[in-house]
Amino acid sequence: MREKVLEITNRTLEELKTCQDSQALEQLRVRVLGKKGELTSILRGMGQVEPEMRPKVGQWVNEARETIENAISESQKEIAKREKEKRLQAEAIDVTLPVNDRSAGSLHPMTLVLEELFDIFTGMGFEAVEGPEVEFDHYNFELMNIPKNHPARDAQDTFYIDDNIVLRTHTSPVQARIMTTRKPPIRIVSFGRVYRADEADATHSPVFHQLEGLVIDENISMGDLKGTLDTFARRLYGDGVTTRFRPSFFPFTEPSAEVDLTCAACRGKGCRICKDTGWIEVLGSGMVNPKVLEMCGIDSKKYSGFAFGMGVERLANLKYNVPDMRYLYENDIRFLKHFRG
Ligand code: PHE
Repeated sequence: MREKVLEITNRTLEELKTCQDSQALEQLRVRVLGKKGELTSILRGMGQVEPEMRPKVGQWVNEARETIENAISESQKEIAKREKEKRLQAEAIDVTLPVNDRSAGSLHPMTLVLEELFDIFTGMGFEAVEGPEVEFDHYNFELMNIPKNHPARDAQDTFYIDDNIVLRTHTSPVQARIMTTRKPPIRIVSFGRVYRADEADATHSPVFHQLEGLVIDENISMGDLKGTLDTFARRLYGDGVTTRFRPSFFPFTEPSAEVDLTCAACRGKGCRICKDTGWIEVLGSGMVNPKVLEMCGIDSKKYSGFAFGMGVERLANLKYNVPDMRYLYENDIRFLKHFRG
């Protein structure tokens, strides 16, 4: 019996050395020490052992169990340590690897053009000012010499908040706000949203952006307007782009002119974008109507001035060859990523 116990002990200790993981270890433990294990079965067979030998056998088995248990727990520690090392190795982070490319955003094409416009106009000595989008009728129409029966006041074009308040239909009310609160010389540009009850299509939107310019001083002439806009055209679209003035009408300027720019796409040769004319209409302008100056408290005998207003979406689309205004509002990533610097 003693040999058998020793044999089980030695074999188990040998086998223990070949156990590679905690699972194999557990299997071995159950096979030897478990309820139906080899060692346990010796105790179960005690009935066959002579009574005077039983304490001895019990002692041998208990000693063997203790030896094996100790050895197993030693191995367990070893294996746990090895497994932990393996896991740490597998999970190791190589801090010297190049980082994943994070996708960076970019400025919106409208912002890009706006920044350029501000550079151009502040470079010529203009100051950037702001005005409200929800505007009094008084500034939007009245002081702009747009009488009560003017078609621009039609509710089909204008969003009315109430009888006296509208969503501004152009940035020109900023002219009135500046002229009624400042003394000449005045040299401002103003950028912002304007609202008109239009259906959205490739060239219209109920909300769009305008850039307004106003200069009031002594001896300001149409030549100053032309020079300013020529400079603007060249700076925004490059050499060779110039302006063409066509007679027009606005209640707040007299005389008034629609201004075309040389088509930046074909440089005036004629193409699909300019409908073979070589010119693109981009803004309204003129000499500030003396009546407007007087209504705003500026002496029209002493001072004169010019004003202009342009649609900024149009400028951006011409600059970046965007065929449809709606692209600017949809903010589709596939469109916007073309403007990544
Ligand atoms: N406010 C005019 C428009 O929205 C543009 C304009 C501005 C014309 C200033 C002349 C002078 O069409």
